[in-house]
This record gives sequence, structure tokens and C-alpha cells, in this order.
Amino acid sequence: MSSPDARRMHADLAWTWPIISPPEDYVEAGEHFAGLLSEHVDGRPRTLLDLGCGGGHFMATLKRHFTVTGVDVSDAMLDLSRVLNADCEHVRDDMRSVRLGRVFDAVFIGGSVDYMQTEGDLRSALRTAWTHLRPGGALALGLAKTVETFRQPHHRVDPRAWRRRDHAHRERLRP
Ligand SMILES: C[S@@+](CC[C@H](N)C(=O)[O-])C[C@H]1O[C@@H](n2cnc3c(N)ncnc32)[C@H](O)[C@@H]1O
Repeated sequence: MSSPDARRMHADLAWTWPIISPPEDYVEAGEHFAGLLSEHVDGRPRTLLDLGCGGGHFMATLKRHFTVTGVDVSDAMLDLSRVLNADCEHVRDDMRSVRLGRVFDAVFIGGSVDYMQTEGDLRSALRTAWTHLRPGGALALGLAKTVETFRQPHHRVDPRAWRRRDHAHRERLRP
């Protein structure tokens, strides 16, 4: 996400996040990732680092299983997560460069891994994950898009479609 309008989603429009993508929608996937991590970490995992935690919607489920620390580059998104997950630690930083000086049993990068737009950025984020994992720890990546599901977004607007929609809308409003 790189256009100025798109970046507003994590700034002045961040308040819309819980409406667009409510925390309940993350419960099933969050439980899935918690199970995967518990299976793959050596020993019982207790601590988890959530990189790009955003509004903390995954965190709300992950914290049932781990003591979670969330990192995000957006103050507005962190503010949302601080309300939802007041019992978790939050750090404002960049997942490509943050160094907390301690290790975790597990690292999770949810949909935010999609925001790494170059191979270099992706490598840096993965290096951050590696640096924060204890030996025997595990990393889970939640990819919102894969090679199979990626579609180039297109912004072509068909004026006829809009006119049809507008007409239907006005018909509905007519007393
Ligand atoms: C779609 S939201 C993630 C939502 C989150 N998984 C949740 O549970 O609410 C993407 C997040 O990635 C964050 N982000 C993007 N680039 C980042 C970076 N380099 N370092 C840290 N966070 C980043 C954005 O600020 C945004 O909050």
C-alpha cells in the first residue's frame, strides 16, 4: 500500500478499521496460527511478538495463548490496539529495523507482511523476526495474498455502472 490515499487507512482513517475488518473476523485464523505456533515451537511457547500488529485484531485472539508484544509503525493503529488489548505491550517501530533487545518464543506477521513491497524490505522484516526468536522458536506468516490469489487492482470506473447504481438508489429513496 503506497499511494497517499491508501496510507490514510493507517492514519486519519484508522478509526474505520474495526468497522471494515472487525476483530471477530480474526478469531478463527488467530486460533489457527496459535495452534500452528504451539505445534512448532520447541517446548511450551509463552511469549509472542506480533510485527505489524495494526489494530490488534489478531492480537485479541493470540493473547489468549501467549503474552503478546505488538509492534506497528502507525500511531493511529496502535491506539486502536491499545484500547482492545490494554493488557499487551505496544511499541511504535518499523518491522524492518526494530530491535527490542530480547527474544520471544514465537513471532507472527499477519496481513502486514503484504506491506513489504520489495525483496529487500521482506528480507529485513524476516531478519527482524529471526533476530527476535529464541533457539527452537517459530515464525508464522499470515499472507493475505499469494501468487495464486493476487490480482492487480484496477481503478477503471465504468460510468454506466455508476449511473445504473445511482438510478436504483434514487428509486429506492423515492417516497
Ligand atoms: C492491515 S493492517 C494489519 C492488521 C492487523 N493484522 C490486525 O490484526 O488488526 C497492516 C498494518 O501494517 C502496518 N505496517 C505497514 N508497514 C509496516 C512496517 N514497515 N513496520 C511496522 N508496521 C507496518 C500498518 O501500519 C498497519 O497497521
